[in-house]
Formats: sequence, structure tokens, C-alpha cells
Amino acid sequence: FSMGALPHEDFLQCLSLRSNDSSTISSVIYTRNNPSYSTVLESTIRNLRFNSTNTPKPLVIVTPSRTSHFQATIYCSRKHGLQIRTRSGGHDYEGLSYVAKVPFVVVDLVNFRSVDVDVENRVAWVQAGAILGEVYYRIAEKSRTLSFAGGVFHSIGVGGFISGGGFGLLFRKYGTGGDNVIDAQFIDVNGRILDRKSMGEDLFWAIRGGGGGSFGIVLAWKLKLVPVPATVTVFSVSRTLEQNATQLILRWQEIAHQLPDEMNPDVSMFSVNSTQDGRKTIIASFSSLFLGTIDELLPIMQQRFPELGLSRQDCSEMSWIESILYFNQLQNQPLEILLNRTFRNPVGGQYYKIKSDYVKEPISETALNGLFSRLSDEEASSAIIIFMAYGGIMDRIPEDATPFPHRAGNLYKIYYNVNWQEQDNVNSQKYIDWSRRVYNYMTPFVSKSPREAYANYRDLDIGSNNVGITSYTQASVWGRKYFKNNFDRLVQVKTKIDPENFFKHEQSIPPLH
Ligand code: FDA
Repeated sequence: FSMGALPHEDFLQCLSLRSNDSSTISSVIYTRNNPSYSTVLESTIRNLRFNSTNTPKPLVIVTPSRTSHFQATIYCSRKHGLQIRTRSGGHDYEGLSYVAKVPFVVVDLVNFRSVDVDVENRVAWVQAGAILGEVYYRIAEKSRTLSFAGGVFHSIGVGGFISGGGFGLLFRKYGTGGDNVIDAQFIDVNGRILDRKSMGEDLFWAIRGGGGGSFGIVLAWKLKLVPVPATVTVFSVSRTLEQNATQLILRWQEIAHQLPDEMNPDVSMFSVNSTQDGRKTIIASFSSLFLGTIDELLPIMQQRFPELGLSRQDCSEMSWIESILYFNQLQNQPLEILLNRTFRNPVGGQYYKIKSDYVKEPISETALNGLFSRLSDEEASSAIIIFMAYGGIMDRIPEDATPFPHRAGNLYKIYYNVNWQEQDNVNSQKYIDWSRRVYNYMTPFVSKSPREAYANYRDLDIGSNNVGITSYTQASVWGRKYFKNNFDRLVQVKTKIDPENFFKHEQSIPPLH
């Protein structure tokens, strides 16, 4: 370093020297002195747990608008010993795309978000910084009977979503987001721009579900578009415990995974204050999309799940893109709202902790009652637990087709969400403790050896790497939960593409030394 210069001043100088066109790179660099620094940083901090004064902040944010900006940033970060955190949509549940315990640079793909839809060939090239809402909107502009097997929440970035597998309304019909990628544009630690052919099948396999931030930076995905009918049906039916919710959930566990692939049955459970006596009551809300009309859906539900008593009034018909609005609780809003990157979920607190589980055997009534009693705890006043049915095509895709291993044999996945509004850490801790208690309580009832978890529901409680050296043994603890035996192939790929372990974080795949 030159005398007196801060390390990142050398880094900045390196960036302008290294970039082919220094005038454009300077317009996409934000240092802490830049008046826009906080706005850019906070633009996609989705979990306010990671926006406190104690949260470590990046030295510099780069928002590349050309591939040469990525190359320069990777080169200069390596040279000056800075870590890179890549951010597409910022939804990482543990904030790993914009928080690190070592000096770091955020590479934010907000300017890398073109969506190029080719209806004739049923493909789309989508840059990794696009959000799912943009993808759905641009496809719908050209066709209402094609879509992508993406997630529900519209502001999720396709970069992180596909990197961690990615599931949504269509996953029982068409698989995960990663299952529906046919090519990619990727930049490695040496600044090489690779596509499927030049990266080879191992790396192409790894980046479609092996978790973001481990191998390099995905610049774009080529997505396979899938057919959806012009009319789809949605329903949501709520029942209290007094209305037999417990028996309905027990029945749901037995049949939901066998329902047609055209559905994605969920049951959401939460507590509300009962108006009569101020005590808590539990509500279970059964919902699904159905790729078809009400007339087609009702006889299926009559036959398979008559106990629910689904009626015509519980159902609404709409186009597929409108169902995205519906499940985002944006009914009757213009479709353009899907393009809004800053829009936040109006439901629940902006501080949250998430966990996940997989269930292979139906859980007992006693187990369920224990879950309800925890949902009645004070800390759980806006918590929500969702059972999401598996089955469908998930039973027919082999476990090693992509790194996402949760396929045949799963009845459903559990999503635990505790959220709150208070900012202070002491209060926050009680909610996090609550989620750990619930998770411990569920141990006997869920998958074992390993206790499986979904990589995109990032949870550092299940294990994490050390700041310095990333050990294979230590990483296996969380790695086998997310990836089962696919973890070893991910380690092999990592060892080849990034042997020095430049791209790393608390749950990145380690290379073998
Ligand atoms: P973000 O930018 O935070 O990145 C996540 C991880 O990927 C980080 O490690 C990051 O470094 C890395 N990364 C990001 N861009 C990359 C790139 N271009 N190249 C390489 N690595 C990159 N999931 C799901 O499957 N179905 C769902 O319906 C939902 N719903 C949902 C709702 C809400 C409100 C939240 C907050 C999250 C979800 N998720 C989800 C989880 C979501 O899929 C997961 O958090 C994704 O990783 C988010 O991707 P982003 O690009 O938004 O995150």
C-alpha cells in the first residue's frame, strides 16, 4: 500500500486501472463517502436483522453494468485481499449476500437484469440480477400460456434463487428452478466468462442448486419455459381447531403428496387472539394452485379430500400470472407491480428467522398438538409454520440430477418462520430462541441422518464454516443436510474451479486441500 492510504483506496485505483473503460466503472462504484452508499446497500436488505449499526458493512459496493466490471472487481479483490459477496435479490435469510466478518466488497447485480424471452423456442435468457416478478411479467407480455418454474415471492433474485435450487407454484409439475435451466453465463475466479459448453457438465450441475456464492458469479441463466393453461384455479380454506383443523392436517399429510402434479398443496398454521376470551386459537389454512379450471378441480378434491369440504365459493379462476399476484397478496393490483424491486411483504415483521425440515412419515396427533402449543407462545404471535407437499415430479427426478437432493420419499417440507418488529437485539433473541426450541421439539418427527434442510432457507444454526480455513469435516455438518451425498461432488467441483477458496462465506462449499 502507498503510505497512509486505506487498503480500499488501492483497491479503487486497481479497479480504474484494470477496467477497460474507467469512466464507466467509476459510475458503478459506491464507497462509504458516496451519498448513495446507504441507499444502494439497503435497497435489497430484506431482513432488517442485518441492517443494524452493528452489522458489518462493505468497504465498497460495485454494481457492474458490463462484464469487464465483474472481471476488474474479482481481479482487484483478490489482489487486495478483500472478500466478495455477490447479491442478486438480497433475500438470503442470513444476509450472506451483503454481510461478512472480514473486509469485503458487495457485487450487486441490480444493473444486470435484462430478460429476453423467445416464445417460439420456449426459452428465455435472464440476467442473474432480474427478480422473479420481472421474469414472469416479461414472459406474460408475450404469452399467457408459458411460464418458468420459479418461486412465489416476486422480489426474489433469480441469481440466488436458482443457485440454491428454487421451488414455487409449479415445482410438483416441472421441478425446481435449477431443473429448468439449460445454459448459463458464468464468471470464474480468474475472470473467465464461461457457458455450459466451456464450463463443462460438472460445474453446470453444481451451480444449479449447490448454493450461491461458492463457485463464482452467475451472470445469466437460460431458462426453459413451461406450458401453463390459460385458466388456473386458486383456493384457500381456513379452519380453526374447533372446526376440526387437527384431523384435516392429519389427513392432509396422508394424501397431499399424492394429489395431481398440477397442484401445490400447502397448509399454513398460525395463532390468532380469539375474540371471545382473549386466548389464542390456531388457524390452519389449506391452499393450492391448480393448473386447470374449478370444474376440473372440484371432483378431484371431492374424491381425494372430501373432509376439507372445498366448495366453488372457495375457489377463483384466473390467469397464471394473476395467480402470482394472488399468492403475493397483491390481487387486483396492476401486473406492473411485479416489476417493483423494493416492494416488501406486507405480512409479518421485517425481522425474521427461518428454518426448514423434511418429513418422511406422517407425524402423530400428539406431535401436532405440541406444535400448536408452541405456536400459542407469546413469541409466536406472528410466526407461521407451513407444510408444503412434495410428490409429483419430485418423486421421479433422481437425487443426483442436480445438487438439490430432496426428491422421492418426502411427504412434505416444513417452513418455520418467526418474525417480529422490534429492533433491539435482546428482544430479537427471544424470537430466535423460540425458533430453536420448536426445531428441537420437532427432532423425533422429521428426517434423520442427515436431518435434511433446504439450502435456500439458509440457517446458520445447522452449522457454519470458520472465518479463516474452511474445513471439509466442518462443512460436511451443514453440507450433508442441504445436499446429502451430492455434497462430495460439490466439493470436487469447488476444488477444480476455485482451489484457493476465493469465493467463500459461512456456508460455502470448501475445496479439498
Ligand atoms: P441474495 O442476493 O441474497 O443471494 C442469496 C445467495 O446466493 C447468497 O449467498 C449470494 O451471495 C448468492 N448469489 C446471489 N446472486 C448470485 C449470483 N449471481 N451468482 C452466484 N451467487 C449468487 N425460496 C424458494 O425456493 N421459494 C420461495 O417461494 C421462496 N420465497 C421466499 C420469500 C421471501 C420473502 C424470502 C426472503 C425468501 C424466499 N425464498 C424462497 C428463499 C430464496 O429463494 C433465497 O433466499 C434465494 O437465495 C434468494 O435469492 P436472491 O438473489 O434474492 O438472494
